[in-house]
Amino acid sequence: MQHQLQVELARKALAHIDAGTTDKGQEVLRCAVSEYTSNDWFAREKATLFRDYPLFLGLSSLIAKPGDYLAEDYGEIPTLLVRGDDGVARAFVNMCRHRGAPLTKGCGRQASFTCPYHAWHYNNKGELVSLPDKRSFPGIDPQQSGLLPLPTLEKDGMLWLLPRVQTDPAQDLNSLLETHLAGLSSELSSYRFGDYHADMTRTITRRANWKQPIETFLEAYHFKTLHKNTVAPLFFHNMCLFEAFGLNHREAVIRRSIEGLRELPENQWDFITHSAISYQLFPNTVFVIQADHVETWRVFPSRDRVDECVIRFDCYVPEPVITEKARKHWDANIDLAFRTVDEEDYQISIDIEKAYLSGALDEVIVGQNEPSLGHFKKSINQSVIANS
Ligand code: FES
Ligand SMILES: [Fe+2]
Repeated sequence: MQHQLQVELARKALAHIDAGTTDKGQEVLRCAVSEYTSNDWFAREKATLFRDYPLFLGLSSLIAKPGDYLAEDYGEIPTLLVRGDDGVARAFVNMCRHRGAPLTKGCGRQASFTCPYHAWHYNNKGELVSLPDKRSFPGIDPQQSGLLPLPTLEKDGMLWLLPRVQTDPAQDLNSLLETHLAGLSSELSSYRFGDYHADMTRTITRRANWKQPIETFLEAYHFKTLHKNTVAPLFFHNMCLFEAFGLNHREAVIRRSIEGLRELPENQWDFITHSAISYQLFPNTVFVIQADHVETWRVFPSRDRVDECVIRFDCYVPEPVITEKARKHWDANIDLAFRTVDEEDYQISIDIEKAYLSGALDEVIVGQNEPSLGHFKKSINQSVIANS
């Protein structure tokens, strides 16, 4: 983050501390509980939000070297992300062109992919290289039978995907993403994410509508109660800085340590150390800049249950973890961070979902002190209604 912006945000935070205030939304919102329980709404969300918008996949180091791949099957389309021998990151539909079997699962590094069913063989650019008993497939042109490509973009150390089979091969994901990020891309590029190293990942399934785990990140109003025994003492309660970028936003919650900046000249101010900055990358990623590492939480609707989601957590660190001491440090710290979110935030998400399914409440309320949450809910709502 540029230093000038860090100074502006730090000034704003200190002013809020002095006045006992926070950034606010324009209005109190009333939100329909059915958006978390209705199968109809759920189908509309999946058909629009997870097809029409660029989805954040991860930082470049997720597939650092040629041949590195990552297969994911929790989105709407089974996806194989792979870095080719030419260094280019590409994504494909992870289905063999013969009878549709997934080519691989999980992650790893390999020069090519052999289908586990009948051994059709593809290189890491997705081209069909060979197929057994080729003479039994007259009229099937191997050059036309490569894996189906999905629009993919690697930019400023970030990997993006448009999760639909390319109908227009000339579609420019870069310009689509620029429009989608609405001015946020230069800020994201300032972090030099290409220098980070993928270090740890976890994938969990939880019984809550996919929006619930995202929403736990979007306000600091719950710190003093839900996190009273964990992170609450580190942060100012019920205080956030908020800025919208189209359907996305930046939210910063403020560490108590920021008071120390008052003693320093502004040219030495470092806002990142004294805050937790999260970008909500619409629709399904919460991207958190912590003082010493980056966390991404990508949340996907379950394939067939409105009240279930899959959450993929990735942690990226500034230096590769080589020594045992460093390994222990990161294991302990990240495990604590993950467990706090999972055992406190996601547990309340699960409890809320169960309560919503009772049908006893039609509406819930978002206060003006929860501007990020209000923005997320409005963004989802508007996009679904506009596109379906
Ligand atoms: S389904 Fe892949 S080779 Fe038959
Ligand atoms: Fe929380």
